[in-house]
Parts: sequence; C-alpha cells; structure tokens
Amino acid sequence: MKKNFTIISNWKMYLDTIEELKFATINYDNFIKLTNSENKIILCPSFLSLSSINQIFKSTDICIGAQNCSTHLNGNFTGQISVESFNKLGIKYSIIGHSETRREFNESNIDIANKFSRLIDFGITPILCIGEELEEKKSGKTLDVLTKQLDPIFKIMENSYNKLNHLELLIAYEPIWAIGSGIIPDQDYLENIFSWLHKNFSGLRNKIVFTLLYGGSVNAENVKFLKNIKNIDGFLIGKSSLDFQEFEKIVKYGI
Ligand code: PGA
Repeated sequence: MKKNFTIISNWKMYLDTIEELKFATINYDNFIKLTNSENKIILCPSFLSLSSINQIFKSTDICIGAQNCSTHLNGNFTGQISVESFNKLGIKYSIIGHSETRREFNESNIDIANKFSRLIDFGITPILCIGEELEEKKSGKTLDVLTKQLDPIFKIMENSYNKLNHLELLIAYEPIWAIGSGIIPDQDYLENIFSWLHKNFSGLRNKIVFTLLYGGSVNAENVKFLKNIKNIDGFLIGKSSLDFQEFEKIVKYGI
C-alpha cells in the first residue's frame, strides 16, 4: 500500500532573501507539480521572506511555515517574531525546538513548551523538533532525553485538547549528530525510536492527529531506506531540499 508523506523543507539561513524569492519563483511550477494526494509539502523560508513566499504560493497546495517563533505575545521583545503575526499573514505552521535554535538561543524544554502553547492558541500547527546529542546516544540515554523534551508538551496538551482538535501535531525526531553530518541512524535504532514515539502519541489518538517525521541528512539516496521505516510519516529536510532536483527525487521516490 502506498503511504502518504509530509515533507518539510527547512531553508535555514542557506540563502539570502533575494535568493529565496528567486528559488521559489524559478521552481514555482515544479513545486506545484510535486503536491498531490500522496504528499504534503511545507516550505520554511527565513523570517524576512516568509510573507512574500506565502503570497507566492497563496491558493496552491504548497504550505508555508516559519522556522521559529517568540514565546511572547507582543511587547518589548527586540528581534522577536510573534505568533500573532503568523496568524494574521495566514502562515499555518512553525518549527519549534530545532536543535540549532535551542543551541543558538539557549532555549530550554520549557521555552519550547511555551512556544507550543502560543502556537496552538493561535491555531498554528507546531512542528516540534526533538533529538539527542551523540554522547547521549552513546550512553544509551536517547529515550530519557526525548522524554524530557516531550513531558512539558504532554502537560500542555492535557489541558488544551479543545485547541488541538482541529490541528495536526508534527513531531520531528532529529538526532543532533545526524543533522548536516551525512550520517543517518541504522534501521534498528530508528525503528525502536519511532515505535516508542508512536506508542507515546497513539494514546492520544482520539484527541489529536499526529504525524511523525524524521530529520537529519535526508537525501535522494537514503530516502529509499527511510521511507520504508515503520511509523515514519515524513521528513524534515535541510540542505538537500535547497537543490530542487534532489528535493524532487526525495519527494517522488516510491510514487
Ligand atoms: P539536514 O538538516 O537535512 O541538512 O541534515 C535537517 C534539519 O536540521 O532540519
């Protein structure tokens, strides 16, 4: 049976804003052709291009997401971008808890949970990133780390099912040691983690819709292997999603 996949393209800060607009316009027709009943595609450009890229793909099936958001509602928070702005612009998704933003901005699991809460208040789907460092993997602590990252989110969900029932929750498992390294986890490791995640979230199945994604060095070569891992419903892709031909191969493999 064919599986449906959600594929998120995280543009990070690879392109400047002019290049981002060019990338979107040059590949516009091809991006549209990639969307069909089997694939959902979400592009996450930088903040500066978010509104324009959203305009470019308005009234198409390509979805647009932000790469991060502020925990705060509004006020004296220089350099921050509010979730309310996303809501007013019609941006439907936001990545939170990416290891690069956790690292750069010293974000705690509680900060991420506050962002989660803010997003669902405004009806925006969180793309929640979780994942362990190499040392944590080596010392067998992966599931403890993921539990610590997820616990505050589960607490918020317990009190907010009414806000979540029209949203899909996207959870991206991204081992930090796999991001940008060209290395991906082996089959047993992935199956174990995704079955654990699936078990954790399926208890809430009648209350939320969830999708489990893998991220970290996904490319046109390894996607064949990754698409066959049980309970992986999609991917969060950085570097290789900025090469349109490679991205197309990733999306189309198996269709
Ligand atoms: P990568 O990044 O595909 O370049 O490894 C993935 C991510 O950080 O989301």
